[in-house]
Amino acid sequence: MDDTKDFGTPKKVADKTVSLTIDGMNVTVPEGTSIMRAAAEAGLSIPKLCATDSLDPFGSCRLCLVEIEGRRGYPASCTTPVAEGINVKTETPKLEDLRRGVMELYISDHPLDCLTCATNGDCELQDMAGRVGLRDVRYGYEGENHLDSIKDETNPYFTFDPSKCIVCSRCVRACEEVQGTFALTIDGRGFESKVSAGNKDFLDSECVSCGACVQACPTATLIEKSIIEQGTPDRKVTTTCAYCGVGCSFDAEIQGDQVVRMSPNKNGGANKGHSCVKGRFAWGYTTHKDRITTPMIRKSIKDPWQQVSWEEAISYAASEIKRIQKKYGVNSVGSISSSRCTNEEVWVVQKLTRAGFGNNNIDTCARVCHSPTGYGLKQTLGESAGTQEFDSVMKSDVIMVIGANPTDGHPVFASQMKRRLRQGAKLIIVDPREIDLVNNSVHIKADYHLKLKPGTNVATINALSHVIVTEGLLDEEFIKARCEKEDFDLWREFISQDKNSPESLEEEIGIPAETIRQAARLFASEPNGAIYYGLGVTEHSQGSTMVMAIANLAMATGNIGREGVGVNPLRGQNNVQGSCDMGSFPHEFPGYRHVSDDITRKTFEDAWGAKLQGEPGFRIPNMLDEAISGTFKALYCEGEDIAQSDPNTQHVTHALESMECVIVQDLFLNETAMYAHVFLPGSSFLEKNGTFTNAERRISPVRKVMKPKNGYEDWEITQLLSNALGYPMNYKHASEIMDEVARLTPTFKGVSFKKLDELGSIQWPCNDEAPQGTPTMHIDEFVRGKGKFFITEYVPTSEKVNAKFPLIMTTGRILSQYNVGAQTRRTKNVAWHKEDLVEIHPHDAEERGINEGDWVGITSRAGETVLRALITERVQPGVVYTTFHHPESGANVITTDNSDWATNCPEFKVTAVQVSKVSQLSGWQKNYKDFSKKQINFAKESAAKIN
Ligand code: SF4
Ligand code: SF4
Ligand code: SF4
Ligand code: FES
Repeated sequence: MDDTKDFGTPKKVADKTVSLTIDGMNVTVPEGTSIMRAAAEAGLSIPKLCATDSLDPFGSCRLCLVEIEGRRGYPASCTTPVAEGINVKTETPKLEDLRRGVMELYISDHPLDCLTCATNGDCELQDMAGRVGLRDVRYGYEGENHLDSIKDETNPYFTFDPSKCIVCSRCVRACEEVQGTFALTIDGRGFESKVSAGNKDFLDSECVSCGACVQACPTATLIEKSIIEQGTPDRKVTTTCAYCGVGCSFDAEIQGDQVVRMSPNKNGGANKGHSCVKGRFAWGYTTHKDRITTPMIRKSIKDPWQQVSWEEAISYAASEIKRIQKKYGVNSVGSISSSRCTNEEVWVVQKLTRAGFGNNNIDTCARVCHSPTGYGLKQTLGESAGTQEFDSVMKSDVIMVIGANPTDGHPVFASQMKRRLRQGAKLIIVDPREIDLVNNSVHIKADYHLKLKPGTNVATINALSHVIVTEGLLDEEFIKARCEKEDFDLWREFISQDKNSPESLEEEIGIPAETIRQAARLFASEPNGAIYYGLGVTEHSQGSTMVMAIANLAMATGNIGREGVGVNPLRGQNNVQGSCDMGSFPHEFPGYRHVSDDITRKTFEDAWGAKLQGEPGFRIPNMLDEAISGTFKALYCEGEDIAQSDPNTQHVTHALESMECVIVQDLFLNETAMYAHVFLPGSSFLEKNGTFTNAERRISPVRKVMKPKNGYEDWEITQLLSNALGYPMNYKHASEIMDEVARLTPTFKGVSFKKLDELGSIQWPCNDEAPQGTPTMHIDEFVRGKGKFFITEYVPTSEKVNAKFPLIMTTGRILSQYNVGAQTRRTKNVAWHKEDLVEIHPHDAEERGINEGDWVGITSRAGETVLRALITERVQPGVVYTTFHHPESGANVITTDNSDWATNCPEFKVTAVQVSKVSQLSGWQKNYKDFSKKQINFAKESAAKIN
């Protein structure tokens, strides 16, 4: 079946089929299918304008009329379902006449500028005019028309030209049905009807710039500015978004060697043709002028950079690593792999570290985000990954979202979740802040918002489980059949204790006991309960405990092992799941196998021809501490910006300053690169082959759209470094790396580029038992055999409020920006978020004399920074909130060194602070400004010298 073909109406799934005749052809389709779709599936095409197969039929344009034998009139084929035995005609002289009449009316109120229109040749209106044989328009422009309507060009990425609008409502329906934002309406009636973004400019409206309306528009009314400026594409390459863990599939549409549009792929397993503002529009960073494409070296961070050849840069980096290891020992160097790079690139970085450096000093950004997920789920269920595919949510009856903000962090999945919620699924939000899903999304209202105090996650989930155990809401049958009895009995005894009751904990948590009881009853009583969680769970001193408590709750209610249920970590970066799978942790080989396991180690030693260490290496915090104490001296950091993303910035920068050789491989001179001695320019996702693995364990192809501007894909650079160090690697293509992954990793045994090209994407495990992959895990038994309950004692964080630091600061992110912002800050997305703000409750603001927009000093035990105030009731009294997308904000200057007991994941979500009105930047911010200006000039000077 043609991947791009538009069948007019959505596919129907039904047990029964219906047979009919269309233009003399016998056609059999599922019951409920429209005549339009049945015709399209038989290879016939009925003219249409208001119908498209991503939206429910609407029946407004009257172009798709057909004749049905024995029925009166000319029904619209998009809204008329098939019926057994009917005989349909799609082309008769009468139908042709009617369609021409309809088209004539449309064209008579449409500018006749086709030849100069940006979508000339790619316009459904133009196609349909040709299709129905319209050659002449009898009505002139003398009458009333819309041709003088004013264009709205406020959105940075697309324009709205009402003079070209045929009021087909596809945009309005796309915004409702696909995106779930309801930003558009049709105002007025008859001739006065027009599309309206709530009587506002697009930029000021509720629009979140997902682009679904632009994609749905059959005319040039809503159109990408890139198409207007650069023209229509001449080819496309299917690849995967490099932003978040949803892993949307896109067609990169290209003209020459320029991307002119990113179109979400209809067959994308994770996104089914939808996208958010980042994936669809924010690719401009790949060609931003700040990108560095020539290697640079220097002896000291006080020196200017010197641009050098690749040979020189690699040789210098290798000689430094050798010198340092000779002087300080084999363990004095280490690597950080990138969760933005491909699986193949991560694989070679950990291989270089283990086999080339000869140690296990490899870590990744998951250390600061989802390492507790890996630990907690492995312990309880036996596998360090989410249990479901995204589509599973469409079978959930109650959804619990804990410490996640899907509409901002995982927008395309949020649209799917909202669709299910509009169908009637219940919603429980556990979050200190009023995220959009609580009450700010049209037609969605959380049944319960458990607005807990930051840092009390474990107490809250223990209280929920207490209710389930003590009120007889356990799924005893599931537990008996699927879980370890002894551990369950211990847990039941523990959780039943009075100290875990809602009444005992309500003051600590800040939620009335009865509300907790009601929420617990709701979760346990619906047939399918699913839990989705994010960094609000993991980035705590009890992050791993909380992940285990979530798994306990899911097992206790029998909500594992089928569609509609499960434990679902919403992974942050595009390939954070993959970077963990590929062995980026210092204690685990790829596939989460401990380095001390002799059999596994021997397998890798044999395959890699190198002796490997059996002791875990340093985690990132260990590397930093060891650097400060003088024993860790060199770091190879690929596509990660620890100077911005990791806690206690001053500690991180001090550690980087203490090293003798910091090698940074990145697109930009990021914050970490300002402390580097070797800069190896990286390649963007558009310039490489490989794979990303999303939050559903879905491995998706990344395919080269253009040649790397720096000359190499990232894995090739690592290979050059490895060869220069004397550990040979000789891959010719990224697919050969995946072949090695498959040979050495049982859960990836069946994965290959060839298979990915055939299937589009694969969810691991993919092996002999599951050759097509595994959408739902733990179906008949857990990966570890029986599920294991863990005691989850609530231990309050040591980060306490007191008179000096009376507020708790917590952090999160925003839709338009992405993590440290290195990419999105270099796109037009800055239109929505130019700076990080501190959200503060009106009471707290008033007490401190703070007004909206004032500069506010935020002081913690670790440091101080200054941000502008945003006064809002979204945060509760006693809590302030900020994002961390801009380095000068210094959000991590104030976060502390506290971390998860099991994994060292930092406690980003709880920092005791004081805020007060100030008039100038903090000391750190002033120093930062001077330092970064100097470093940027060093890079510019080196470029100027060579040019
Ligand atoms: S861009 Fe998305 S949110 Fe904005 S109006 Fe279009 S569909 Fe709605
Ligand atoms: S803007 Fe496009 S999709 Fe929306 S009503 Fe007009 S023509 Fe249809
Ligand atoms: S939801 Fe995530 S993966 Fe999808 S387009 Fe947006 S940023 Fe990219
Ligand atoms: S396509 Fe059927 S009425 Fe418009």
